[in-house]
Parts: sequence; C-alpha cells; structure tokens
Amino acid sequence: MDTAQNQAKKKIIFSGMQPTGVLTLGNYIGALKNWIDLQDQYNCLYCIVDLHSLTVRQDPARLRKRSREVLMQYIAAGLDPEKNIIFYQSHVPAHSELSWILSCITYMGELNRMTQFKEKAQKNEGNVNAGLFTYPVLMAADILLYQADLVPVGEDQKQHLEIARDIATRFNNRYGNVFTIPEAYIPKVGARIMSLQEPTKKMSKSDENENAYIQILDEPNRIMNKIKRAVTDSEGQIRYSDQQPGVKNLLNIYSSLSGESIESALEHFENKGYGDLKKEVGETIVEALRPIQERFKELEKNKDYIDQIIKDNGDKANCFAQRTLRKVQKKVGLPPRI
Ligand code: TYM
Repeated sequence: MDTAQNQAKKKIIFSGMQPTGVLTLGNYIGALKNWIDLQDQYNCLYCIVDLHSLTVRQDPARLRKRSREVLMQYIAAGLDPEKNIIFYQSHVPAHSELSWILSCITYMGELNRMTQFKEKAQKNEGNVNAGLFTYPVLMAADILLYQADLVPVGEDQKQHLEIARDIATRFNNRYGNVFTIPEAYIPKVGARIMSLQEPTKKMSKSDENENAYIQILDEPNRIMNKIKRAVTDSEGQIRYSDQQPGVKNLLNIYSSLSGESIESALEHFENKGYGDLKKEVGETIVEALRPIQERFKELEKNKDYIDQIIKDNGDKANCFAQRTLRKVQKKVGLPPRI
C-alpha cells in the first residue's frame, strides 16, 4: 500500500476514450495497455468521455450501455479501481464549465487546423455541429482540470495534445500559473494500429467494414477469421517496411502484444510465409484478450460492484476537479461564492 507521502509525490496521468462504439485492438494497444503499465508509477485518472461522443449522433440507450461497457473493459483489462480514478466525464460538471472558459481563449483559426475535425466533418457531412468543432477545447479541459503531467494516447491524438498545451500556456501567461503543461505519452510501437482491410488507414471502431477492426470482446474464432482475411500484399516476404503496410501492421500488433522487439519478431518469422504470420498473430491476440474477456463476463454479473465504483470514483474526480475550477474562476474574474 502506498503511503500518503508517496502518493502525493507521484505525477498525474489523465486519459480517456469515447464510448462511441466498442473498443478495438487499436484502443487497447495504442492506449489502454499502456495505462495498465503506468498505474503503479503515477496517480491516474481514466475517463469515459461520454460528452465527446455526443458530437456524433447517438442512440441514447446504446450510448448508456456502451459507456458502462467501456468502464468495465477498463477494469477487465487490468485498471485497478482502487488505485485509479475511473469515471464518467458527464458526472463531473467541471469539465463542461472549464471548457466554456477555455473556449473564450481559443481561436477559430487554431480549431480550423485540426485534422481530426476536417476528417470527421467530411465523414458526417450532414451533422457538422459546433461541438465537433470545439471538441479539442473540451479535451483540453479534461486534461487541465486534473493538472495532468502525462497523457498516454495513440498517435492520432498528438495534435489535440498540442492545442491543449497551447491553451494552457496562453492561460498561464495571461492569468498566472494555474495549469500544469501536459506531455503526450505515445508508445514507440503500436501508436497507430491500422485497418486490417485498408492498412494505410487507422483501425477505427466507426469503420463500416467489421473485418477492418478487432474488438476487445471479439470471440477467438472471429479474431482468427479477421486476421486470416487481413489484407497483405503479393511480395511474399515478411519485412518491416512502409511498402508493405499490411505486414508491417501485423508485425506491430505481434510485437506490442508479445513484448518482443520488431527485430526479434523478424528473426522469429524468417523463412515463414504470410499464413504462418497470420496464424501466430491471431493466436497472440486471442491469448492477450482472453483474460480480459473472462474478467469482463464476471464484471457483467456484478452490478452493485460496478455501481459503487461509478459513485465513489465520480465523487473523487469531482473533488479534484472543483479545486482547479475554483482557481480558474477566480483568476478570470468571476464573482466569489458567498
Ligand atoms: P478515442 O476514443 O478515439 O481513442 C481512445 C484512445 O485509443 C487510441 N487509438 C489508437 N491507438 C492506436 N491505433 C489506433 N488505431 C487507435 N485508435 C484509437 C487513441 O489515440 C486514444 O488514445 N479525443 C480522444 C478521447 C479524449 C481524450 C481526452 C484522450 C477525450 N478527452 C483527454 C486523452 C485525454 C479520442 O477520441 O480517443
């Protein structure tokens, strides 16, 4: 057990995932897996960013169900709810409140440059809403509220982290030091797991083709089939090269999950064919996800335990967030509460 002193000295981590769809192998390798590895060294807050999900039209009952499933997947993957604060973004109103204040020091031009906004606006042509545009401001509020030092994310979130740093620096310069400037923590291998069907595109839970991604909760047979169908090339040689994005992606998945370096993976697959590569990658995924899936099934039966976590962790996060929000409100000149 940590002493209070040790606990106080530890740096702070914040990260989150949208409950927009089911979590994928990309979410696991790019982020969740690293969260598990970091939980002992840092004070960590892991959020289910349900408000962010509203930027895309959602079926309310499904969003509610998925939010709970994401929370259970965090725990099933190995995040300890005693050590980490695991909570829903919407249960801490300070996120929305800080987001408004920060949006008043964020420029349209900065938000216009966000590649994720451009991509999502193109994809959701009929619903380019203001929330989609100000999405990075809410994300900055998430991170800055908790004075996070480190934010473990996949590569696609790098630009959002940069704008969060810019907003924090601007606020500090204008009003005095309030926010810690956060650093991105991006894994060396696996920061961008690619679609199994179009390996030049990121693996995404919103892909229309289900064979393009693996879900954390996919059954072993389904995983093996999806990997078997993964697009490779006609080279026939297992190399780690940008000219062979499909094979490179499979090697990245293998290396991240087995813990072997790319060099040693290449040695391991020397003189083997794509069939062997796919079989072993598939088996490695099945074995990595098996304990998560088993634990998830147990958690599903344990409603009261999950409810208690939601309540306790939400309270803790609220307490923490209020401290920063009050400081910010005072700095910008909002009247004190009497
Ligand atoms: P989201 O929900 O799209 O993804 C959650 C995390 O998974 C990573 N990721 C991937 N990593 C590698 N390969 C992939 N194919 C892949 N797909 C997703 C993402 O980089 C991310 O780390 N805006 C964020 C959620 C968010 C957030 C935050 C994150 C809101 N507030 C504050 C950190 C801190 C998002 O949409 O992630």
